[in-house]
Amino acid sequence: MKYLEIAQTDLHVSNIIMGCMRLNSLSPVDAQKLIGTAMEQGVNMFDHADIYGGGNCEELFAEAIGMNPGIREKIVLQSKCAIRDGYFDFSEDYILHSVDQILKRLKTDYLDILLLHRPDPLMEPEEVAEAFDHLYSCGKVRYFGVSNQNPMQMELLQKYVGHKLIVNQLQMSVVHTPVFDSGLAVNMHIDQSIDRTGSIYEYSRLKEITLQAWSPFQKGYFEGPFFHDHERYGKLNQEINCLAEKYGVSNTAIAVAWLTRVPSNIQVILGTTNPQHFKEGCDGSEIPLTRKEWFGLYAAAGNMIP
Ligand SMILES: NC(=O)c1ccc[n+]([C@@H]2O[C@H](COP(=O)([O-])OP(=O)(O)OC[C@H]3O[C@@H](n4cnc5c(N)ncnc54)[C@H](OP(=O)(O)O)[C@@H]3O)[C@@H](O)[C@H]2O)c1
Repeated sequence: MKYLEIAQTDLHVSNIIMGCMRLNSLSPVDAQKLIGTAMEQGVNMFDHADIYGGGNCEELFAEAIGMNPGIREKIVLQSKCAIRDGYFDFSEDYILHSVDQILKRLKTDYLDILLLHRPDPLMEPEEVAEAFDHLYSCGKVRYFGVSNQNPMQMELLQKYVGHKLIVNQLQMSVVHTPVFDSGLAVNMHIDQSIDRTGSIYEYSRLKEITLQAWSPFQKGYFEGPFFHDHERYGKLNQEINCLAEKYGVSNTAIAVAWLTRVPSNIQVILGTTNPQHFKEGCDGSEIPLTRKEWFGLYAAAGNMIP
């Protein structure tokens, strides 16, 4: 397992994170097994959100891991807030209220990282700053970040928020590549040139912001893993299988390796509920795909290499 330091923090974290969004489909015993597998593989970081399972995922996690101060200090806990029923809410009151509920459900006194889940166009950044200052000064949250934001949204927030935004969590995978597309096809009359992220990849490298990849295997927006779609991703699956054979790992590991090969701080959030799939994903933590292999997979996923 490869570890990295999140810039300007004391956080030493695995580059694989266990994502807890689907945890509520498991019994407490199976959730315990999955968490145990993750920890045996060297995973020390867990990703939550207040909305996962309507709060049940956080509760089940705390029960399954047997949360106590000894366990708490061995793991890095991240959660998110600000998605409400049909809208997003960065108001100070809602952020403060959400964190209190999260801490209660996770049976802990503090979060290592709090992320704002999706951008709120109605935000007043001064309110976010107030909320973060309060959460930090009373010891409820150590570090702050965002999810699904572009560089200008981060800049706007950062103008007011005194705490460095250390993480941005985005959908990224070999079948979801907007983060890389426009940078690879600058100034061309093709769809790939359209900048959908505001150059978030380059911005994150410049500012030393850790990117976290959500849904590393999902095609589209939660349409299921691409591994089984031979019609749309036949060529990609074929190439992945060849590399899996070469490196003596599973196809899952190669899909993870496509992300971990990127030379900046990228963490991959595995959302599987199956311990075997989880182990296979962890095998991709430090596979050194060559440039030719990385570009080959990008092209096999249907992208043009100019
Ligand atoms: N910030 C955001 O907006 C946002 C949005 C979505 C998710 N997230 C975070 O990202 C995490 C991961 O998202 P995700 O669950 O959509 O990601 P994922 O790991 O791409 O998808 C997991 C799903 O794929 C299935 N799967 C099938 N074959 C698999 C294989 N060989 N290996 C692994 N999985 C396979 C899993 O089924 P099995 O369980 O049967 O393996 C599971 O249903 C979430 O838990 C959450 O923490 C964040």
